[in-house]
Amino acid sequence: MPIGIKTFARKVFSQFEKPSLLYKGISKHIFPGIPTAPFRVKARLYGLESELKQRNVTYNLGSLYTLPHFEAASVYKQFIKYNPGNLGDWSDNVSQTYATTELEYEVIHSMIDLYRGSHVGLRGYITSGATEGNIFSVWLGKQYLEQHFGKKMICLLKSSLTHYSVRKAGQLCSVPQFVVPLNTKWGMDGDGFKNLVQTLFRKGYRGFIIPLTLGYTSTGTSDDIESIVREADKLKKKLKNTEFFFWIDAAMSGLVSPFIRKDFRPFQSSYIKTFVVDFHKFGQVPYPAGTIIYRRELKRIIERKIDYLRETDATLLGSRSGIPAISIWTMIHTLGKTGYTDIVNEQKRNKKFFIEKIQAMLPETEVITHADSLSCGLVFKGLTHFRLPKNIEEKYNFFPGKTNVLFYPNTAKKIVLYKCYFLPHLKRRVLNEFFADLEDIV
Ligand SMILES: Cc1ncc(COP(=O)(O)O)c(C=O)c1O
Repeated sequence: MPIGIKTFARKVFSQFEKPSLLYKGISKHIFPGIPTAPFRVKARLYGLESELKQRNVTYNLGSLYTLPHFEAASVYKQFIKYNPGNLGDWSDNVSQTYATTELEYEVIHSMIDLYRGSHVGLRGYITSGATEGNIFSVWLGKQYLEQHFGKKMICLLKSSLTHYSVRKAGQLCSVPQFVVPLNTKWGMDGDGFKNLVQTLFRKGYRGFIIPLTLGYTSTGTSDDIESIVREADKLKKKLKNTEFFFWIDAAMSGLVSPFIRKDFRPFQSSYIKTFVVDFHKFGQVPYPAGTIIYRRELKRIIERKIDYLRETDATLLGSRSGIPAISIWTMIHTLGKTGYTDIVNEQKRNKKFFIEKIQAMLPETEVITHADSLSCGLVFKGLTHFRLPKNIEEKYNFFPGKTNVLFYPNTAKKIVLYKCYFLPHLKRRVLNEFFADLEDIV
């Protein structure tokens, strides 16, 4: 049977142990003056593919990285050649005329439904991920507070565990940033929050932009949203002429908590203005994929006309691919609530097994986590320099970052913190292998 040119090329290139020999002539630093010979280009790409194939994500316990679901990835193959563009903002009007904006509308409203929010009161769009969601939230928060106060009266309050994208967001929007100390559960401390707001109020600050985190990247712990917001409400009454703009960064937990707690309602309090989640973490969609949901009335604060286009400008990016809308939509419909719940339950069992076993084998280990998250932080207090052997770190993709933390009232610490993520790819077999490897050091 005759074979196609692509299959033929793959067969030819796979004969070479080192396809790099074929593309050796390609410079890493020069924009080619003339087209590079196609066989060299192909050789380079096959080399790249075989390198990526060798990465074994199955053993990835220590980094927040997983592979996409087959269905979510295959729509890229099917649709990328049409290059659909979703520049603009599509969640307000059900009658979309363009195929992929229609899917974006459906994704956003499915998420509003998942979070038990109001289809009338909320809206949103598909982002490139939680970094974009956080930058958008600070931008929106600043614009919102500037309706009431001068630029110099607005600041941002975060904890020492808040994701680094928030620091960047604050810098981009020129908002000064202050750190609220943590409590013993590794979430923002209520008294620490109150004291800091009062101190800053005396210094002239009146508008406070505050990210609350569900599932801190390094520990899986969460801020107690209800109690911090209650504290803010009391402060607003006491201090007068003060405004708070809260949002929830739930990069990973935003697709875990709704399947653990049936009463998950992040927009219940009117203080919460936006909600940020990633689909390229627990959602099993290829990068870049996330959503931001926010209060509908806030759109007018940032929306501007674009002189040369029909669409208006109310997103952080300009041109946006329509493919993530297809991919997220496909994933939502492939799994549904029951599919995601099954995966969450499997990883909950893995997390429980993992923590019990760690505590039995290395009882001095401090395990930091939250019941609703599928990640945890570990401090190996019984190990030399608090470190696992290098071979274990490498095999399971651990990066024990030296993490700076500030605890209430004012205790600063630097700790060697291991992060563990119970992502959809993780199997019990790998955890058993991890504990077998650990036997050698206990
Ligand atoms: C809590 C939190 N926020 C924001 C982000 C940034 O997400 P992304 O890298 O998808 O932009 C992460 C990523 O790990 C995160 O864990």
